[in-house]
Amino acid sequence: MSLPNHGANPHRLFAQLGIKQPSNILDFSENVNPAGAPDFIKNDWGNFLPLLQRYPDPEGEPFLSTVANYHGISTESIVLGNGAAEIFSLLATYFRGNNAIIVHPTFSEYEATLKGNDVEIQHVICEDIASWKLPLDELQHAMQNADVLYLCTPNNPTGVLPPKKDIQQLIASAKSANCSIVLDEAFIDFVDEGESFINAVTQNPHLIIVRSMTKMYAIAGIRLGYMVASSEVSNEIQRLAPHWHINGLAAEIGAHCLSKEQDVFRQQACEYAAKMRMRFQVFLRENNCLVTDSVTNYVSFQLPNSEQSKAFFMYLLERGIVLRHTENFIGMEGAWFRVGMKAPEAMERLEEAMTQWFQVNSSL
Ligand SMILES: Cc1ncc(COP(=O)(O)O)c(C=O)c1O
Repeated sequence: MSLPNHGANPHRLFAQLGIKQPSNILDFSENVNPAGAPDFIKNDWGNFLPLLQRYPDPEGEPFLSTVANYHGISTESIVLGNGAAEIFSLLATYFRGNNAIIVHPTFSEYEATLKGNDVEIQHVICEDIASWKLPLDELQHAMQNADVLYLCTPNNPTGVLPPKKDIQQLIASAKSANCSIVLDEAFIDFVDEGESFINAVTQNPHLIIVRSMTKMYAIAGIRLGYMVASSEVSNEIQRLAPHWHINGLAAEIGAHCLSKEQDVFRQQACEYAAKMRMRFQVFLRENNCLVTDSVTNYVSFQLPNSEQSKAFFMYLLERGIVLRHTENFIGMEGAWFRVGMKAPEAMERLEEAMTQWFQVNSSL
């Protein structure tokens, strides 16, 4: 079965499977903040409209300075992106023809962008998916012959954040192996800013941190992200970016998103994600599923009998419930599903449908 490589856009999934899309669908395959975007976007929309007519600031202001203030870093160390996706594309160009390590199962864009730039890839798989425990010895060994290591922290799709000391150890090894290390912190907003390694960049010129504005602020459509690295690396990567690549609306909205006024929005999103995820993890374990040790706003699970995965996926699709399949995640190969946390009613509908499935299928 050939399925889309990303979550969200469920109409593509139904079209690819040749199934008529039910009129009322619940999409758990995307994992942005279920609260939606902050209220100011709707309330101030009229004030943003004039930005459509103007060329944006070429440096992405006012977002650039806001990111610098938010993290207490220099603008020189920041490169803005048309989504974190653009940053990955720029990084792949930067590492063109090099040798990279990717730790799986993980976000597919690392491989997609690197492959397009003739980067040779060493695939390292975390065998224990539920704990996503990093094979530190293997990674340290692999770094001896690599130019860059990509690590997703917290990881997509497991939601696991490796212990801080493990990441610190890898950063230290990367330094001595003269290997760069890219940490994708697209989902760290749902955990704690204190877990971010952005402030370690000044002491570690090999470290590159990628952040997305999509997930916490539910603004996937306007495309905004950034990376933080030493000013030397950032300058080189900035030179690869097209002029005016940060649209004016995104720069303005992104600056408001990171303001102090959104502290409550951020805090509520973290609390909600944690509460719903823990509830759902309990539900899954009660039904004998294998569950990832996620700390963020999504979780992955495997059925007690993973041979039933395809039938289970189709059963839910026919009821208008879309999960993120894992066919294209190395190490998962369709045996797991990822679920983004949604509103309580949607979570209840999912649990009801799954309970019905378990009642009929758990003894098979
Ligand atoms: C781990 C991870 N990093 C980065 C991205 C890209 O985010 P953006 O929407 O900012 O391009 C995604 C999108 O799904 C993701 O899952």
